Amino acid sequence: MEAPIGLFDSGFGGLTVMKEIVKLLPNENLIYLGDTANLPYGNKSPETVIRCARANAAFLLERGIKLLIIPCHTACCHALEILKQELPIPIVGVIEPGLQLVHNFRRIAILGTTSTIESGLYQTQIRKQNSNVEIFAKACPLFVPLIEEGFHEHITAKLIAQHYLDELKGKIDAALLACTHYPLLRKVLDEELGANVALIEPAVGCAQIVKKILVEKNQLRIQKEKPHYQFFASDDPEKFRKFGKLFFGTVIEKVEKNKKL
Ligand code: DGL
Repeated sequence: MEAPIGLFDSGFGGLTVMKEIVKLLPNENLIYLGDTANLPYGNKSPETVIRCARANAAFLLERGIKLLIIPCHTACCHALEILKQELPIPIVGVIEPGLQLVHNFRRIAILGTTSTIESGLYQTQIRKQNSNVEIFAKACPLFVPLIEEGFHEHITAKLIAQHYLDELKGKIDAALLACTHYPLLRKVLDEELGANVALIEPAVGCAQIVKKILVEKNQLRIQKEKPHYQFFASDDPEKFRKFGKLFFGTVIEKVEKNKKL
């Protein structure tokens, strides 16, 4: 029960999911690893993403985690099923909660990194749950660097969103934000796609799945002492600490360097 939950992402984006875990499971000890040395995953080959995902998971397993969360959509598309077969602990990704939330829509846009969209995984899974659906898969590779430079509410964000999303206007009922970073663009995406298009984020659903598993396994931490949060980055910890606040919402006090990756 004292054992922490581990999360890994290519960098800072997964902190948007960690934020929801903190809200729903405020007693849990958490370890977050941002593989910033290999960021971004979104333009990497499946082989590279799988190699990084295995190394990240091994690093967290060595720290005795009881459950692994993979908030990174690109990593989930390429490595979630592989890691589920290889590791002895429960693993929760962001694909399943996203699929649950788009279930009732008929015209769905999937917005993600190039690697996520090219994997075709979301397209296949959505079609599996409803063959009657119209899917518009759109890679938006400029969104991640834009957000990481703090331009998510800048006019540039609006122009780039227009460039990617103009063709979807009037054609969709929902847009699945299949990238850790895109929740930060919510305002711009709302304006661009219109208020009648639902923007779907899997973070809360992911936290609910984690809670359900821990309840079922009787592994919830119920101690009253404050939980312990540990942050690791595979590149410049100070940069992670500074940028992390944008995604996590609160100040991150300390980030350690993971020298292994
Ligand atoms: N974490 C990635 C994802 O959700 C976005 C950032 C990256 O490309 O590494 O797909």
